[in-house]
Amino acid sequence: MPLDRFIPALAAEIEQIDSAKTAKANERIVTDMLRANGQRGPRFILKGYDNREFLRMNSNSYLGMSAREVVTKAEEATVQKFGAGPGAVRFISGTYDVHVRLEKRLAQFHGREDCMITSAAYTSVLGVIVSLTTSETIILSDELNHNCIINAMKLARPKDKQVYRHLDMDDLEEQIIAAEGQCDSLLLITDGVFSMRGVYAPLDRISAIVAKHNHLFPRGIVLIVDDSHGVGALGETGRGTEELCKAKGVDILVATLGKAFGVNGGYIVSRKEVIRYLREKNPLYIYTNPITQGEASAALASIDFADSPAGREVMKHLHHLVSLFEKGLVDMGYETLPSPHPVTPLMVRDTAKTTRLVQYLFDNNILATGLNYPVVPKGDELIRFQVNGDHTESDLKYVLDVLGKFRNEQG
Ligand SMILES: Cc1ncc(COP(=O)(O)O)c(C=O)c1O
Repeated sequence: MPLDRFIPALAAEIEQIDSAKTAKANERIVTDMLRANGQRGPRFILKGYDNREFLRMNSNSYLGMSAREVVTKAEEATVQKFGAGPGAVRFISGTYDVHVRLEKRLAQFHGREDCMITSAAYTSVLGVIVSLTTSETIILSDELNHNCIINAMKLARPKDKQVYRHLDMDDLEEQIIAAEGQCDSLLLITDGVFSMRGVYAPLDRISAIVAKHNHLFPRGIVLIVDDSHGVGALGETGRGTEELCKAKGVDILVATLGKAFGVNGGYIVSRKEVIRYLREKNPLYIYTNPITQGEASAALASIDFADSPAGREVMKHLHHLVSLFEKGLVDMGYETLPSPHPVTPLMVRDTAKTTRLVQYLFDNNILATGLNYPVVPKGDELIRFQVNGDHTESDLKYVLDVLGKFRNEQG
């Protein structure tokens, strides 16, 4: 029978994952969503818990855009007009006016010449790195970069792959200097915001290091930043880590439409020559469908809203909630890592206690994510809270109250 001898090997691996208690398959299934109402932000109903209303503290929807009426209405209208899917890849017949308008808007939003959208930030990163790497390229990457960067480096098959210590600017500079004479171009890639802890890369300092050593390589250093968690969440106008750090030298910026903007898809912004090259060479653009017309329309509406005075108010509210929540944790004696980003880690530093606290929060109708080894190093076990712009002060005070009760009861 087909697969008869293949499946036992898979089953053995699954058994290992199950016994290490690192399985991801036990997903919570959302069956309903209750819209925000006054002092109460949105609540979620889960399969198997029909009579409970959960407060979600583990969503990347930093601006609460996904259910905003301007966004859902834009998607509905476009689907009515053009149907649900693009029907082909971009260069065959899958390019709609709204895809092009979205690219123009994103380029303008980030102050760049041009933009390419793809089906996800994951594929954007893969596409950029695979397409720009030759057998004479060295790729240099922060050790805590996202999985898409790690896999992109493997797929790209550069001359060499190097990793510098997380956020260690001395190590980064030493490795750039050591690469002189070894390659014709150096691709330097970092996350903007590191999603596990909400900390961010000092893009101003990284840009300065790049400018200082660019002359060492025949084709120079290309600085690539994946700011999927930063865009919409950081900076006064939501331009992300670049805005927060006042950094000017990022050559290629990748981000997602699926987190702060509340829709789906990824994009790349850069100089027009780079985007033109990618339209000819990037297999993750050429040979796979774009986001749907409806998604593109929703994303366009979301960006327009985020970039308006009303959007700035949501960002202000979000930043206010982040500092309120962080202060609440610190006042109770919990350890967190200071950052203006809505990912607010509660450092538990103990696996069993992390699991207990996540369960305690769940028993009190709060969804939060516990991160244990091997996702984080031993001793760094944490609960990752994510504050969203559609949370209210009263939502966060409720979460802090529950955390306070846990501390009194269990230390
Ligand atoms: C840094 C980073 N890049 C890319 C992604 C993937 O984004 P998308 O869902 O748009 O592929 C994530 C999502 O977790 C991320 O944290």
